[in-house]
This record gives sequence, structure tokens and C-alpha cells, in this order.
Amino acid sequence: MNIKLFNKIDKAGLDLFPENYKAGEDITDYAGALVRSAPLGEVNFPDSLKAIARAGAGVNNIPTEKCAEKGIVVFNTPGANANGVKELAVAALLLGSRDIAGGIEWAKTLIGAPDVAKAVEKGKSSFSGPEIAGKTLGVIGLGAVGGMVANIAYSLGMKVMGFDPYITVKAAWGLSRAVARANNYDELYASCDYITLHVPSNPENRGMIGKEEFAKMKKGVRIINLSRGDLVNTADLKAAISEGVVASYVTDFPDESLLAVKGVVCIPHLGASTPESEENCAKMAVEQLTEYLENGNIRNSVNFPDIFQPRNTNYRVVVLHKNVPAMLGNISSVLGADKVNIESLSNRSKGDYAVSLIDTDNPVSSAVAGHVGAISGVIRVILVK
Ligand code: MLT
Repeated sequence: MNIKLFNKIDKAGLDLFPENYKAGEDITDYAGALVRSAPLGEVNFPDSLKAIARAGAGVNNIPTEKCAEKGIVVFNTPGANANGVKELAVAALLLGSRDIAGGIEWAKTLIGAPDVAKAVEKGKSSFSGPEIAGKTLGVIGLGAVGGMVANIAYSLGMKVMGFDPYITVKAAWGLSRAVARANNYDELYASCDYITLHVPSNPENRGMIGKEEFAKMKKGVRIINLSRGDLVNTADLKAAISEGVVASYVTDFPDESLLAVKGVVCIPHLGASTPESEENCAKMAVEQLTEYLENGNIRNSVNFPDIFQPRNTNYRVVVLHKNVPAMLGNISSVLGADKVNIESLSNRSKGDYAVSLIDTDNPVSSAVAGHVGAISGVIRVILVK
């Protein structure tokens, strides 16, 4: 089985592939792909491609809808790098509060000064800033990273308020009871001295922080964005900084126009750049990809439903299809007409898409798979042995 690597992937993950797998950067005909941040929007995928796994949480570099239409399952690895990002968020709280970055840059200018210690004491007052203890942090998005950030900020002495319209039961259970629940974004904007964003870049969230939102925030608010640059409207942000509404902005996703802006701390996307995160993400991505290619089971897909069925026979048909009425009836009629007996069947749907896993008593020929593939609404049929 060929696996294309679009980025360097940690060896601890690659070592988990079965022996008959070959993973590399120069492969042209591949069944699976692994990626970190390489943009895949313009890549012409070969017809052989069945699944892409992103070693990381964000999937804005992958055309997930286009992939769904072609029957390519896209996975991510939620939570695998959450601790790495959480630790950077702690640093970002401090970098956004005290001018540590400016101070370090200034200290370098003292090279060759006659009395560095004296110059340091004389110049340090330009880089002071408030402590975070006792201040209120607003956490937008309480998933794997946001939940951890909320909890650690509380243990650092901050008051914490969170808002997430899509919070899961699991995430809610993981939150400290001390984290207050905002009723809406406006309440959070009006109450917080610091605001940190932990949501994906998707059509709903892009540009979610702009002129209107800044107008609702406390004067002197400090904002942290370790999620994706396009969540914040850069022009509006610069205006809010120059008007003194925003005291600082710490971002892991700088663009050219922010690099020289006073009050902006630019980090070069280091959130998950730790050996631990890279290893965790690579292992999870490889495990999920292999499980799909070998058994058709799906865990942590962003464009198809998760589904798991234990192997009941040696023959399995994986059908990726549109979430439309009568599909299961149509598939079993076609298989029945071709004298294929179904031993067990699972079906799950998510939005417009669905997956059926069908274990059969006997091998299914490619001609029969073709008949299933011809059913209106079926996107792809894969035979796994
Ligand atoms: C993520 O999406 O998981 C983080 O931004 C880290 C990364 O992109 O590697």
C-alpha cells in the first residue's frame, strides 16, 4: 500500500504502518496520504487515493468537501497536540501581558554597551506590563485545547469565562467548575481582560473578530489567537490597536501586515511544534489511516461519519454514499440480485454523507462492486479483504 507524505511526519508514527506499506514524499500513485500544514487545495489527487490523515487538528489546508464528493475520507487528530498548544497559550498570556518579546529584542541592542547591567536597570521600565492573576480570561471554543487552557488559566489565578455553542458533553465534564459559562459572545467580550480563541477556521468562524466585536470589548483587552489567522479581521485589529481598544495581540499565524505592528507578538506557528505533539499526532494519524484502509472503520473523520464494525467475515464492502432515502434497501437488493449474502451491516450518516460497512459470506467480485457503485447516490465502493 502506498502512502504519500506531503510533510515530514514523525518516525514514531510511520513505524506503525504494516510491513507491506511504503510511505514517501515522491510517491505518485497512492492509497493514503499524510499531511501537516502543506496546502492541498490545488493538488490533483490520483484516483487511487482513498483517505488523507492530517497530523493536527485544523483541516483548513485540505479541500474536505471536494474530497467527500470524490469519496476520499479526511481524518484529523483532535487532542493529540492539545497539551503543546495549551502550553504555548500559557506563554502567550504572559507575552501579551508583559512586553517580554520587546524587552528581549531591546536587550540584544545592548551588545557592546559599556555597562550592560546599568543600561538594563535604566531601560527596563519601558517593558513592564500587568500580571495575569486576578484578571478575567475569556475562552472562545472549549474543545480539547480550549478546555485545557481554561483549566490552567484558573490554576494560574485567573477568573475564567468560556463560551462554546457546540460544546460536547465530554468537554463539559473536563472543565473545572470554576469556569463560568458565558451566555453568548457579547457577554464574554464585555467581561474579559484577555480573550483566547480556540475554534476551527470554517465559514462560520472566519472573520468572527472584527470591528463590531472590538467595539463590545473592554478597552485594553489582550487577545490571543493560536487557532488560525483568518478568524480575526486584520485591518480592524490594527485599527483597534491604534485606538487603544486592543492592548496586545499574540498570534501563532502572523501575516506580513502584522509583523511590524507595535502591540502584536508574532509566533511562527509553534503551537504543536514539540516532539511530544509531533509524535502523538503522527501515531494517531497513521493508526486512523491504516484502520480505514485495512477495515473501512472510520474514527475522527471531518467529512464522513465515524463508524466501527468488528470484522465478522473475511470479506467487507465499504460503501461511501450520499445520505439519501432507500440507500440501504437499494444496496441490499443489488447484492441480493447478485447472490451475495450479507452477514452484517452497519450504517452511519453525517450531514450529506453516509457510510455503510457490509460483511459478506463470500468474496464480492469487482463486477458486483460495479453494480453497487452504479446506484444513484453511491460515491465510492471499496472492497477490503
Ligand atoms: C493544529 O491545527 O493542530 C495546530 O495548528 C498545529 C498544527 O497545525 O500542526
